[in-house]
Amino acid sequence: MIKLLILGPSGSMGKLICKLGLEDGEIEVVAACDVSNIGQKISKLASVEDPNDITVGNVNDLQKIIEETRPDVAIDFTLAKAAEINCKICVKNNIRCVIGTTGLSQDFMEEFEKLVNEYNAPAVISANMATGVNIFFKIASILAAYLADWDIEILEAHHIRKRDNYSGTSLTTAKIICDTLGVEMDDVIKYGRPKGPALRKKGAKNEIGIHCIRAGDIIGDHVVLYAAPGERIELKHQAHSRNCFASGAITAVKFVFKAKEIKIYTTREVLNL
Ligand SMILES: NC(=O)c1ccc[n+]([C@@H]2O[C@H](COP(=O)([O-])OP(=O)(O)OC[C@H]3O[C@@H](n4cnc5c(N)ncnc54)[C@H](O)[C@@H]3O)[C@@H](O)[C@H]2O)c1
Repeated sequence: MIKLLILGPSGSMGKLICKLGLEDGEIEVVAACDVSNIGQKISKLASVEDPNDITVGNVNDLQKIIEETRPDVAIDFTLAKAAEINCKICVKNNIRCVIGTTGLSQDFMEEFEKLVNEYNAPAVISANMATGVNIFFKIASILAAYLADWDIEILEAHHIRKRDNYSGTSLTTAKIICDTLGVEMDDVIKYGRPKGPALRKKGAKNEIGIHCIRAGDIIGDHVVLYAAPGERIELKHQAHSRNCFASGAITAVKFVFKAKEIKIYTTREVLNL
């Protein structure tokens, strides 16, 4: 059994992770920590039975909770600032982390990679754990290689509660396309376009626009538009529910528990794409 610690069980993703974790025969949820719903049973939050009757612990007591419950893997869907603190505590306790939280800083990524090696605790970090999105990344790269002379634009839409612009998934898509084209993101990416006269530079090697929409309860839409004079291709992924992310995260928990190489893995590696 994989002993799992859930960070952020009160959130939209956290509740689903609690549900899938509690229902999974290979996983034993041993602890859950948040800043809200402290003392509440996770079975109530997730509307499923919990043989261990776990309650939400105060994240300020994380070190003590880890020492009492000795998790193998921690899963984090919280806020970037919180994940950056809590996942460092976890890795320093040799816990293997699956981090779905987006908006992590470059400084954190560099420090966390060192900790992963120092404490022999491989991790999975992915801005989008859905299987379909990771196949979308692969196809986006293949199309970019064929259509390197075309114009490429990336569009993303999410619910109004989303805190980070632009989405981690759109930025990963941009990075993958830039790597395929052999250009640097900083040189070509245009984040939206301000009002007023301005011509777009022709061709994706010179400019790639990213545009974001925040409206209603959209779970997550991503489009890559490849256009040339007279024709265009649109590659589109739409998440219908958060289940695709949560089930991908549970797959990542099982993967990282067994992972031999000490490194930070992506979902593409988890899915062997
Ligand atoms: N990687 C993916 O596939 C994927 C998919 C969906 C969402 N996300 C990301 O996951 C994160 C969470 O999304 P959500 O929609 O569940 O958000 P949410 O706002 O519903 O939930 C966030 C949770 O974090 C908790 N929290 C805040 N500070 C905390 C702290 N210091 N310690 C522990 N918990 C704390 C909140 O109380 C809340 O329960 C976001 O960064 C989002 O972009 C990633």
